Amino acid sequence: MARKKIALIGSGQIGGTLAHLAALKDLGDIVLFDIVDGVPQGKALDISQSAPVEGYDAKISGTSKYEDLKDADVVIVTAGVPRKPGMSRDDLLEINLKVMEQVGAGIAKYAPKAFVICITNPLDAMVWALQKFSGLPTSQVIGMAGVLDSSRFVHFIADELNVSVEDINAFVLGGHGDTMVPLARYSTVAGIPLTDIVKMGWMSKEKLDAIIQRTRDGGAEIVGLLKTGSAFYAPATSAIAMAESYLKDKKRVLPAAAYLDGQYGVKGTYVGVPVVIGAGGAEKIIEISLNSAEQKAFDKSVASVEGLIEACKKIAPKLA
Ligand code: APR
Repeated sequence: MARKKIALIGSGQIGGTLAHLAALKDLGDIVLFDIVDGVPQGKALDISQSAPVEGYDAKISGTSKYEDLKDADVVIVTAGVPRKPGMSRDDLLEINLKVMEQVGAGIAKYAPKAFVICITNPLDAMVWALQKFSGLPTSQVIGMAGVLDSSRFVHFIADELNVSVEDINAFVLGGHGDTMVPLARYSTVAGIPLTDIVKMGWMSKEKLDAIIQRTRDGGAEIVGLLKTGSAFYAPATSAIAMAESYLKDKKRVLPAAAYLDGQYGVKGTYVGVPVVIGAGGAEKIIEISLNSAEQKAFDKSVASVEGLIEACKKIAPKLA
């Protein structure tokens, strides 16, 4: 069986980390693409030179030509501009929308069968635009945010309770922004919901609220520290987990920005929900029941994503 092909559009901080992780996990041959000539080629050569030490056989190449994406099985998109301190993800909208138009056309022409994972921010609006620009089926285009947001949530809980991250499951719904909805009721430590953890007195309500807020601000905290860019290790790892679930038909249930066609009462918008990811792409959206406070927070998050989508339609009327 021929090796799978993974194309990475954008070879910056996240793109390079994606390539390294995909190689280490032997997911397939890797093509790094960027508009800046030399960067994808240089990173491909550097990562290839780690292969003899690590013992992987993946072919890793760099290019600035869309035709080299031909017949990719998975495309992960990080092309665009990241945040600088003081910027919100939404500030990136206009620049990155133009990038999605070019990338969408390239995917449509050379890799129309690929499973496409978008990481570029503002995530929910960019994955929506990328699906429209590419014309690929909505089940084939998904956005990476929930795995990252949930992983941040898990990290903070594990750190606070001094327990293994392996025994924690956390769920974050909604858009990838200040309105994201970390769900304490559906997040568990060894099966015990966080709400019960508070009742048991293992963690105070104030501490849990502070962790929820820190999860929401997780990206901004890192931007503030790095000053020259945004997070890249955890975003790359999160997208690789999604790619792996698709390539190996694992059917993992992962939170991701998926196209809603009536689920959760939402139509025509991408927003973070639990999704089964397998060989069919985004195979099934899981509709969990929300209490009134959770529903209110989710609705607010959806409204904020819809606002960004409206802004996209004004900038690029052909998306309307
Ligand atoms: N086509 C292809 N690549 C492009 C294009 C384009 N039209 N425009 C920009 N790029 C490339 C840049 O040359 C750069 O190498 O995208 C890459 C982005 O890399 P970084 O600036 O290092 O950004 P990164 O940290 O990888 O984040 C990428 O993901 O999480 C989001 O907010 C983040 O939107 C940002 C994206």
